[in-house]
Amino acid sequence: MGFLFKRLSKKRIWNRIYKERLSEPLHLNFISLFIYIFGSFRRKVFYDLILRPHHAFSILKAADEAKERGFNEIDILEFGVAHGSGLMNMIKIAERVSKTTKVKINIYGFDTGEGMPEPIDYRDHPEYYNTGDFPMNRELLEGKINGKAHLFIGPIKETLRDYLKQKSKMSPIGFVSIDVDYYSSTKDVFELFKHDAQSFLPLTYIYFDDIFMDNHNNKCGELLAIKEFNEENKLRNIAYHRFLENKRLFKNSNWIKQIYFLHVLDHDYRFNTNRDESKRVLDNPYLNI
Ligand SMILES: C[S@@+](CC[C@H](N)C(=O)[O-])C[C@H]1O[C@@H](n2cnc3c(N)ncnc32)[C@H](O)[C@@H]1O
Repeated sequence: MGFLFKRLSKKRIWNRIYKERLSEPLHLNFISLFIYIFGSFRRKVFYDLILRPHHAFSILKAADEAKERGFNEIDILEFGVAHGSGLMNMIKIAERVSKTTKVKINIYGFDTGEGMPEPIDYRDHPEYYNTGDFPMNRELLEGKINGKAHLFIGPIKETLRDYLKQKSKMSPIGFVSIDVDYYSSTKDVFELFKHDAQSFLPLTYIYFDDIFMDNHNNKCGELLAIKEFNEENKLRNIAYHRFLENKRLFKNSNWIKQIYFLHVLDHDYRFNTNRDESKRVLDNPYLNI
């Protein structure tokens, strides 16, 4: 409760509630009150009532899809941990998702532990972020997470290799949250997406934190890294799902535009020939049969 009050004391949060929530239909906000008190976790995710709804949406979706494909566990990764509020939120949500879906969720966080490295040039948005920003209190954070997530400390370029070395084939990557601010660091993260196709769900959810501010554009930062990745990799595509907002009840939230899908085009799933043999026939109401 204290946590909720602390958040509600911030002007930024009220601003967001005003712009993103109160601009939505009144009846949906009214129903939300009941869902908040009586609703199941799944309902609350649908009504955007979970703190950091982008995490809740993506982790639940990934777990559902993993189950559909016969997996009992998934990996979820956060790049850019800093003080750890995002990672701790992922831990809390993962517990609730596991309870709902019975899918085990392994959580990994990546960070230098010392804050931002040096920016390479304008492409890293030095007007927003700079060397040493967002340091971590590692001892405090490790104590708090208490083994519920694993931290890889050091430059992502190096620690990604350590993660991949220990990665289990039984636990595909289902969700990746990217909050490393720089173009150069995002490029380092994207080395992950070139890995063996079966290491991922055929459709893996990605959240990009740093694409919403006015100076972000596709010649710098995360957006440039996405563009280059897609140009360089024929069988992998990081794509924005332009219809996602139509599938959501509350359409004005920023986070919907920050979710991308990694399409793993060389995944076995895309070559699945074990489909039901019966042919599908399209309906035609004009034929009257
Ligand atoms: C904005 S902070 C992350 C905030 C965090 N996700 C949260 O929810 O509070 C960005 C973090 O990315 C980390 N980072 C940026 N580039 C990195 C790199 N190349 N290797 C490792 N960590 C990096 C920095 O250390 C910094 O802590």
